[in-house]
Amino acid sequence: MKALVLAGGAGTRLRPITYTSAKQLVPVANKPILFYGLEQIRDAGINDVAIVVGDTHAEIEAAVGDGSALGIDVTYVHQDQPLGLAHALLAAESALGGDDVVMFLGDNLIEGGIDEVVRRFVAERPAAQLLLKQVEDPSRFGVAVLDGDGTVERLVEKPSEPPSDLALVGVYLFTPAIFDAARAIKPSWRGELEITDAIQRLVDDGRRVTASTVDGWWLDTGKKDDLLEANRTVLAGIDRRIDGEVDASSAVVGNVVLEVGASLINTSVRGPAVIGANTVLEDVHVGPFSSIAADCRLTRCELEYSVVMERCDIRDVPRLEGSLLGREVSVSRTERRPAAHRLLLGDHSQVEIAGGS
Ligand code: TTP
Repeated sequence: MKALVLAGGAGTRLRPITYTSAKQLVPVANKPILFYGLEQIRDAGINDVAIVVGDTHAEIEAAVGDGSALGIDVTYVHQDQPLGLAHALLAAESALGGDDVVMFLGDNLIEGGIDEVVRRFVAERPAAQLLLKQVEDPSRFGVAVLDGDGTVERLVEKPSEPPSDLALVGVYLFTPAIFDAARAIKPSWRGELEITDAIQRLVDDGRRVTASTVDGWWLDTGKKDDLLEANRTVLAGIDRRIDGEVDASSAVVGNVVLEVGASLINTSVRGPAVIGANTVLEDVHVGPFSSIAADCRLTRCELEYSVVMERCDIRDVPRLEGSLLGREVSVSRTERRPAAHRLLLGDHSQVEIAGGS
C-alpha cells in the first residue's frame, strides 16, 4: 500500500496567501498543515508516499525533502495544471506502480489518524473505501448516499439539494480499479476531473465502494475561517511547554508553547496558544487560540484567535482578532498627519477596520 498526497491545486479561496505560498504549508499551531497528514500516513505504517505538486512545487519540496525527517520515503509527481483530484490521481499512476493507495488531500486535517481505516481496507479490499462525516451544510461538499448495509450508492459534488448530510472527507482508499474509472470520465462543468465522478463510475460498473464514518473532527482548511477554526481545534489539544524566556512582569496562563529563544516582556499569554522560536512580545496580550510563528516582533498590541506567520512585525495595534497574516507582514499605528489608514495590500487582500477607529 502506498500513499498519495495532493499538494498542488490553485488555492484560490486562500488568496492572497496562496499567491506566494502553498496553502498546504500554511501553519496550524505552528506546523504546516501538510505535515499532519504525512505523520498520520507514517503512523498507519505506510512509508512510500507520492506527493502531487503544481506551481508551488519548489516550496513543498524544500519543506518535505525526501521525507526522511518525517520517517517516510517521498517521491514527487508534477501535475502540469490543477485539473481536478481525479486528474492528479491519474498523473500519479506510474509512481504508484499498480499498488493500492490511500489518497489524502494535503489541506485536510482529521482527528485520530487513519490506521483503522487503512486496516479495514486491507482486510476487506473493496474497489474503493471512503471516509464520510455528518455535516450541517452538505451543499459545500461532495456528498454520499449509502444503502442499508453501508455500501455507497451515489455521490454528488456540491449538491444544491443534498440527498444526505454525509460529506466526503479528504481521505480515500483505492485499488488500481480507480484508474480506468478516472480515464472514463469527462471534465465537470467547472472543467475538473472530479474524483466523485470517478468513484460513481466504479459504483455504476458494479464495483463495491464502502464507507466509514468519522466521529472526530475533520477540517478542510481551504478558506481563512476554516483555517482559523482548524487552528483553534488543534490548539485545544496542546500541552504546556515553556522553553523561552518569561520576564517577571509577564504571565503565561494555561496550555501555552513558548519555543526556544522566544521572549515575553511585560506580556500576558492566555492559552491555548503557541509562540515560535525567537519571537519577541513586548507589552502584548495574547488571547486564546493564537499561533504566532518564529521570528516575529509584537509590541504594544492585543491579539486573539489568529494565525501569524513568520517574521511579522505588529506595533501599537489595539486589537487583532480572527486574522491570518502571511510572512513578513507589517501592521502598525502611526501619528502621521493627516490621520488616515495607509494600506499596501496585494490582490484579494481583505481588511476589516473596526468601527470608530
Ligand atoms: P481543493 O481545495 O479542492 O482545490 P484548490 O487547491 O484548487 O483550491 P481552491 O478551490 O481554493 O482554488 O484541493 C484539495 C487538495 O488537492 C489541495 O491540497 C490541493 C490539491 N489539488 C491538487 O493537487 N490538484 C488539483 O488538480 C486540485 C484541484 C487540487
